[in-house]
Amino acid sequence: MAKVVVANDHGAVELAQRIVRHLENRGYEVTYLGTATEESVDYPDKAEEACLEYLKGGYEFGVVCCGTGIGISMAANKIRGIRCALVCDKYSAEMTKRHNNPSFIAFGGRMDYRDSVEDMLDAFINADFEGGRHTRRIEKLMALENVER
Ligand code: RB5
Repeated sequence: MAKVVVANDHGAVELAQRIVRHLENRGYEVTYLGTATEESVDYPDKAEEACLEYLKGGYEFGVVCCGTGIGISMAANKIRGIRCALVCDKYSAEMTKRHNNPSFIAFGGRMDYRDSVEDMLDAFINADFEGGRHTRRIEKLMALENVER
């Protein structure tokens, strides 16, 4: 069974639980790292937890959520080897799989999206990475982790 890791801060508890339900309904095995309560937690901590879990291997992708999705996606992108895409509609969710093949996608629990998060997840899952020139660009993107200054 394909696996997904999901984590969130207090700004996206309800959304993350919806995401877990949707993924489970689609047949994924979900590792849910919470937080499951409204008590304040720091999004960099949840991003780190989720990324370290993902990097253990065996995950198809991961989902991170905070109030806007911005902070937790920024934090995830700081972790070597991780590409996290902050998506905002079905189009960006589909295109990021096709062109950027991210390890994580991010959503905001306090956002008012024009497409449902379930539809965005489906667009992401149903799309395929196109490879070719996009592989070269991803390699260049990941090489930026090693730029010295
Ligand atoms: C927490 O209040 C909020 O700052 C966080 O969830 C997120 O939106 C940050 O980018």
